Amino acid sequence: MKVLVVGGGGREHTIIWKLAQSPHKPELFAAPGNGGISKLATCVDIKATDVEGVVQFAKENSIDLTVVAPDDPLMLGMVDRLEAEGLRAFGPRQNAAIIEGSKVFSKDLMKKYGIPTAAYEVFDNSEEALSYLQTVSYPTVIKAEGLALGKGVIIAADYEEAKATVRDIMCDRVFGEAGSRVVIEEFLTGQEVSVLAFTDGKTLCPMVSAQDHKRAYDHDEGPNTGGMGTFSPSRLYSEKIHEECMKNIFIPTMKAMNQEGRTFKGVLYFGLIMTKDGVKVIEYNARFGDPETQVVLPRLQTDLLEIFMAVAEERLKELTIEWTDNAAVCVVLASGGYPKAYAKGLPIHGIETAEEDKDITVFHAGTAWNGEQLLTAGGRVLGVTAVGPNLEKAINKAYEGASKIYFDKVHYRRDIGRK
Ligand code: AMP
Ligand code: GLY
Repeated sequence: MKVLVVGGGGREHTIIWKLAQSPHKPELFAAPGNGGISKLATCVDIKATDVEGVVQFAKENSIDLTVVAPDDPLMLGMVDRLEAEGLRAFGPRQNAAIIEGSKVFSKDLMKKYGIPTAAYEVFDNSEEALSYLQTVSYPTVIKAEGLALGKGVIIAADYEEAKATVRDIMCDRVFGEAGSRVVIEEFLTGQEVSVLAFTDGKTLCPMVSAQDHKRAYDHDEGPNTGGMGTFSPSRLYSEKIHEECMKNIFIPTMKAMNQEGRTFKGVLYFGLIMTKDGVKVIEYNARFGDPETQVVLPRLQTDLLEIFMAVAEERLKELTIEWTDNAAVCVVLASGGYPKAYAKGLPIHGIETAEEDKDITVFHAGTAWNGEQLLTAGGRVLGVTAVGPNLEKAINKAYEGASKIYFDKVHYRRDIGRK
């Protein structure tokens, strides 16, 4: 069986690492892949956003399953195009991926179906947005409508900051067309937990919970990043909360998408916030999270390939998905300066030494081979992931692994897993 994974970051490395353990022994391909993925799969030089390039490759090489992992190709309709050619794909179609691609869509969906979320208003006119902003309490949250590379959410401390933000987004279009509309919403406080779920539109199977650390420096200081580390399980996500989420959020979301004629098949990511009034949805993603995947999939016992096939063929209900009762921690090693300017092309040492411990796996996020030498090729470079019987042991193990790896100006947080 031939499987193609679209993407080339830590998430995709983790997916491929798990697929490589499948008893079906699939032949693996990645587009475009990275330095770590190339040890497990054939990397083909096709960009993740090149829809026609991926479709053509899948056709010419008789790929049995294409897993579309990142958000952009999902929003571009890559799954629709693969299916139109009679090819099997894992991931939501374009009309369902909108749950991540449009903040207005997802907020309106939650309002219509009574799914708990922050109160909000939508504006397509900057003057109206500004007069509304004179009436709200602060801090308040301003979101650009469309995909803005994870940067389209601004928490404004006061009216002055809110005014400047609306001008940037709606008048100066700093996020491009993503700024044609804004959502202004109530600021919620509470810890955030991520729960990803497999769904084929009929059955929904949540994965184990995870939490991430988005700020660049310890104690949640510094600028926002794509994620500096994750751990699983969350200490806050109890069985009782899980039941509340299944009943009030997860199943209602799956059913709402069916009702709207937008059946969601793939991985639905619930970004949750634990408020004093119960659990609310902060955001939906239409895919595996990065770096949540790095701590969730190592705890999966069931064959991931079986799950992907069952979702694609709408028979998820036939499977029992099992998880190990352990913990996993991922520490991201970034290039000094990230998320601002940073160097690329720095030689990386010590990965093999770190991986001598069977509980440690180093997932590559931004690496490339230059002949025999592995070099950094991105801001987030590696995700050092460890499993252990509990969080404390997994944390220690992950840092033991991280300490053995070196590249010039390597930066990582020292407090991953401690919240
Ligand atoms: P989003 O892209 O919608 O996930 O927002 C990114 C981040 O902004 C979230 O993970 C939260 O930390 C924060 N955020 C978004 N919406 C709110 C809100 N209503 N209240 C507080 N924080 C928020
Ligand atoms: N880690 C958050 C995301 O993947 O969007």
